Amino acid sequence: MQTAALAVTTDDAPQFPLPANTHAERVVSVTHYTDSLFSFRITRPAAFRFRSGEFVMIGLPNAERPVFRAYSIASPAWDEEVEFYSIKVPDGPLTQHLQKIRPGDTVLMKHKSTGTLVLDALTPAKRLWMVATGTGFAPWASLVRDPETYEKFDEIVVTNTCRDVADLAYGDQLVAALEADPLIGELTAGRVKYVATTTREASPQMGRITTLIENGELFRLVGCAPFDRATDRVMICGSMAMLKDVKALVEAHGLEEGSNSKPADFVVERAFVG
Ligand code: A2P
Repeated sequence: MQTAALAVTTDDAPQFPLPANTHAERVVSVTHYTDSLFSFRITRPAAFRFRSGEFVMIGLPNAERPVFRAYSIASPAWDEEVEFYSIKVPDGPLTQHLQKIRPGDTVLMKHKSTGTLVLDALTPAKRLWMVATGTGFAPWASLVRDPETYEKFDEIVVTNTCRDVADLAYGDQLVAALEADPLIGELTAGRVKYVATTTREASPQMGRITTLIENGELFRLVGCAPFDRATDRVMICGSMAMLKDVKALVEAHGLEEGSNSKPADFVVERAFVG
C-alpha cells in the first residue's frame, strides 16, 4: 500500500474564494518581540493608497467567511510594503492564527483604509504629540516616518506606555533607527522626542501617561510648557479607558477635538485587539 501518497501537504489545504473588495498579499517578514507582541510586513498592492495613521481591515484566508479586524497601518504612506504591529491574544478570533504567520503566507487586506489619526484632521501648529499605550503605538510608527509630519510640525513628541520594559521594544527600535534612515533621517534629526514609560516593571521612566501629564513630569521631560492650543496638537491611541482619560486632560488644557471634516487641536482612536 502506498500510504505516503496520502500525506497531507499545504497544497491540500482548503481554498476559499477571495472575499469582495479584498487584496490577497504575501507575508514578507515577521518579527516577534514578546510572547504577546509581534510585527509583520506584507507586499503592497499597487492600487492600495492610504494616509499615514489610517487603519485597514485585515484577515486570513482560513475560512469561507474570514474574520477581519481593524489594524492601524504601521508603515508610512511611501513604503513599498505594508507593516502592522499586533498583539497576540491566545483565543483571539484573528490573532490566535495571525501570530503563527510566516514569510510566504497570505494575509487578506480590504481595499479601503480610513481613520482619524491623520495630519489632515489637525490644524497647523508648532509641536505634535503622539500619545500611545500598548499597540496604540502602531499609527505613530507610520506618522513618525512620514515627511509630511515634519513639513507640518517643527517638533514631534512620541510617547508609549506599557506594563513591562520588553513591551516597548518595537517603538524603541523604530525611533532609534529614524536618524539613520536614508529617506527621512535628515528630516527627523533633532526633532523627535521619545518618552517611553512602564507601569508595572521597574524602568528609568515609570508611570501612566495620565499621571505624567497631571503632575507635569511629561512637560519637564520634554522641556516645554504644558499643552497649549496655540502651539500644540495631540493624537491619542490606546484602550477605551486610556482614550477617555487622556482626552479629558487634553480638553482641560483647552484643546478641541478635530476630525477629517473639521480639523482642530487633537484626535483620538481606539487601538484594536482580537
Ligand atoms: P497599568 O499597568 O497601570 O494598568 P494594557 O496592557 O492593559 O492595555 O495597558 C497598557 C498600558 O496602558 C499600561 O501601562 C497601563 O497601565 C496603561 N493604562 C491602562 N489604562 C489606562 C488609563 N485609563 N489611562 C492611562 N494609562 C492606562
